[in-house]
Amino acid sequence: EKGLYPHYMLKEIDEQPLVIRKVISKYQDSEGSIRIDAGLRNRLNEADRIYIMACGTSYHAGLVGKQLLEKIAGIPVETHIASEFLYNRPILSSKPFFIFISQSGETADSRGVLVTIKQLQYPTLTITNVPGSTLSREADYTLLTYAGPEIAVASTKAYTAQIAVLAILAFDVMRERERAPHVNPFHELSIAANAMEIMINKKEMMEEIVWQYLNASRNCFFIGRGVDYYVSLEGALKLKEISYIQAEGFAGGELKHGTIALIEEGTPAIAILTQAHVRANMRSNVQEIKARGAHVCTISMEGLEESEDHMVLPVVHELLTPLVSVIPLQLIAYYAAKYRGCDIDKPRNLAKSVTVE
Ligand code: F6R
Repeated sequence: EKGLYPHYMLKEIDEQPLVIRKVISKYQDSEGSIRIDAGLRNRLNEADRIYIMACGTSYHAGLVGKQLLEKIAGIPVETHIASEFLYNRPILSSKPFFIFISQSGETADSRGVLVTIKQLQYPTLTITNVPGSTLSREADYTLLTYAGPEIAVASTKAYTAQIAVLAILAFDVMRERERAPHVNPFHELSIAANAMEIMINKKEMMEEIVWQYLNASRNCFFIGRGVDYYVSLEGALKLKEISYIQAEGFAGGELKHGTIALIEEGTPAIAILTQAHVRANMRSNVQEIKARGAHVCTISMEGLEESEDHMVLPVVHELLTPLVSVIPLQLIAYYAAKYRGCDIDKPRNLAKSVTVE
């Protein structure tokens, strides 16, 4: 039930810190270690490459998952849009492991890949929010995201829960490969949950940003580098699907290769800047579009901020920043849709679970 909330989407955005804490409690055993099926752990450790399959928002979580698994666990990862992979399969490595990410566990495009991969007898894992769902039943292993029922069509808490589970998996594989285990994933995730709570309590600020930047516009750009780029894609998708504002996410360095032609006086752009190693590059990308008239709202992280930034996120582990930076973007989409009088929980032309190819 949505209780006092005007929309399920807002309730589900608010639930995110709790969901992360729930994920922590489900995956942490009494000794503080990671609770993961030993068979799954072995299969992952044997793999020479991980292939992540998903659609929409789950695909965006999969992109973050690639960074987590490559940078923390040290395994090569490819993240694919399921419908593309199905009909244009790349050359596979000799010991592939497949991860399917799906909130509903029923998405036909993802299932199409799972069916093919099972015929090829490669090991499979589904990360899903729905126990007993088709993708869960048909894969060798399942990791649940424990986000609770997600009612709003636009996915919010399922995305952050998927990222949390992928992070835990990455740290688990890392431990098995005996990389220096100096980071406690549960500690890092609980720091992130606290930071998420801080952002959720800044709703008035987000409403104000929407009023200032998106009130009269038909389009909006999101830019970032690394995981911030992946969050930009997700921010743009959220805004598109519920407010119907044309939005696109771009890699900060790619704008000048074409897209910058679309920037004119007053074009709104949201820049995300949480990655220290590309801070200077991002700052100059922001300058490039400002100089062409873009109205830029910058969301940065503590320690990387500048005085004119509009929102500063608390510091979290550098690969867990999507858990926090996505919250202002979800809220921006929400308020933009609200101002436009859109049907927030049931946007036009969309269904919660897409069971056709
Ligand atoms: C966006 C959204 C969709 C789903 C996509 C995959 O807010 O909800 O893009 O993420 O249809 O759905 P699942 O995760 O159920 O496979």
